[in-house]
Amino acid sequence: MPARDSTPPDSHWQGVRLHVVTGKGGTGKTTVAAAMALALAAGGRQTLLVEVEGRQGIAALFDVPPLGYAERHLAVAPGGGDVSGLSVEPKAALMEYLDLFYHLGRAGKLLERMGAVDFATTVAPGMRDVLITGKVYEAVRRRRNGGPAFDAVVLDAPPTGRITRFLNVNEEVVGLTKVGPIRNQSGSIMGLLRSPQTVVHLVTVLEEMPVQETVDGVDELRAVDLPIGGVVVNLVRDPVLGTRDLADAVKGRLDPEAVAGGLRTAGLGGHSTGVQARLATLTEGLLGEAADHGERVALERQERGTLAQLRRPTYELPALSDGIDLGALYELARRLREQGLA
Ligand SMILES: Nc1ncnc2c1ncn2[C@@H]1O[C@H](COP(=O)(O)OP(=O)(O)OP(=O)(O)O)[C@@H](O)[C@H]1O
Ligand SMILES: [Mg+2]
Repeated sequence: MPARDSTPPDSHWQGVRLHVVTGKGGTGKTTVAAAMALALAAGGRQTLLVEVEGRQGIAALFDVPPLGYAERHLAVAPGGGDVSGLSVEPKAALMEYLDLFYHLGRAGKLLERMGAVDFATTVAPGMRDVLITGKVYEAVRRRRNGGPAFDAVVLDAPPTGRITRFLNVNEEVVGLTKVGPIRNQSGSIMGLLRSPQTVVHLVTVLEEMPVQETVDGVDELRAVDLPIGGVVVNLVRDPVLGTRDLADAVKGRLDPEAVAGGLRTAGLGGHSTGVQARLATLTEGLLGEAADHGERVALERQERGTLAQLRRPTYELPALSDGIDLGALYELARRLREQGLA
């Protein structure tokens, strides 16, 4: 049976039931959402990881067969607890809607055969997102054994450029329809999304464009009263040189003789002119790379400063050198917990 106290008291997000994860494309939304679902499940809780773009990214990540419309168990969290996964598909969501609100049953199937379902889910603008957010709402609200079926739902959401429109789509529906079940449903969804039970986290890397998208995303979400969560800085690499050496590297003040000495110590020495020439080329190359590295670290510091101005809880995740497998997800989940996300 799921625990009833969703998140532990030292988490920044106590009481939050829906964690929406957005960010610039390719910054690690799917990876971070998965690690978050594991972190939030630790210690015996139940979480649901939901994807909405039909890409089967979650199945690939957890190395399971493609997810369907019914959720599937993905992983056991540290200290017990379970992560389940779901891929929300607008067509199936529409069939469920028709059945739920109009008890269409077989008539719904007929509509599907007539192509009406395809029409509604692919042609009617915004309809797709209404259906998807409706399904997410249902998962958050679902009950089991007298309590919430899931302590937390983590949504691997559309990227920053589309997130506000996606989450706010039901607002438009409320404005368009005067009465009826669809209006009520849309009103309830907006109610959840604007409540303290929802937060939108933004994933970024320490580069100019993704950081700018994060800043813009926060502004846009704020403008429509959607609750901003934390900022997850992903793919962080530790500097390979100390602060002093980095500054010297950028200014071209590293001592070439010291670098060449290091290379000789590493066994790259020799006295022939050929070897000497190669050593000089290698030293020059290394000094150039050190300068680039120094510049990158300085830029990263600047981006961190920009993110700090958002005044949101910020979490850093390392770039794991062996790629992302289940073990890596546990490692990232552990880091998130250490930093108070769950
Ligand atoms: N912390 C990390 N360490 C190492 N590799 C990572 C890390 N985070 C993400 N990656 C890798 O970076 C790539 C992009 O990550 P991911 O698919 O999670 O990004 P995304 O934002 O969901 O992308 P998309 O916009 O295409 O959905 C993947 O190959 C993933 O394995
Ligand atoms: Mg993704």
